[in-house]
Amino acid sequence: MIAALEIDRIVAEYRARRTEWEPLLPRRRMGYTRSRLVACDAYEVLALLWLPGALTPIHDHGDSYCATHVLAGELNVARYLRTDGGTDASTSALRLVGRGVQRAGDGDALGSARELHSVENLAPEDALSLHVYAPRYTTFGIYDESGLRIALAPSRYDAVLG
Ligand SMILES: [Fe+2]
Repeated sequence: MIAALEIDRIVAEYRARRTEWEPLLPRRRMGYTRSRLVACDAYEVLALLWLPGALTPIHDHGDSYCATHVLAGELNVARYLRTDGGTDASTSALRLVGRGVQRAGDGDALGSARELHSVENLAPEDALSLHVYAPRYTTFGIYDESGLRIALAPSRYDAVLG
C-alpha cells in the first residue's frame, strides 16, 4: 500500500504541473470527464472536470485507496460507509456518514473498500479535481441508497494523457 505521504507528494506534483495538463482535458456538454495523467502498478492519477450539474452515483473504488483534491470550483460530497461485515455485494448495506462541500484546496480520502461516496457539482461554475487511486482499479461498484450494488462498472477514461 502506498503511503499517505507519497500520495501528498503526488498530488503536490500534479497540482504544480496544472498548466501542462489542464488545457488538454476534454469537455462534455454535460456531466464530467475523467482524464488519466499518469499510471503505474502502484497508483494512477486522474483529473476530473465537472460541469455544473455533473453528478456521480454512490460508488466504491474497488479495493483501492482513493485520495481527492479540489483545484477549482466546489464539489458536494456525500460519504457512506458499508455497515455489513464483508464485501459481498448481495449483503451490502450503507450508512450516510457525512455531507459537505469541498472547495479549492480541500482534500479527502476514502481508505478502504468499505468507504464510498457520491460527488456532485451544484455550483454554476466548472470544478476541477485530482484523484489518486492506489493501486489502480479496473472495475468499481455502483450502489443505490439502500446499499444494493446495482452495477459493476469498468473504470473508463475520456482521455489518456500519461
Ligand atoms: Fe469516487
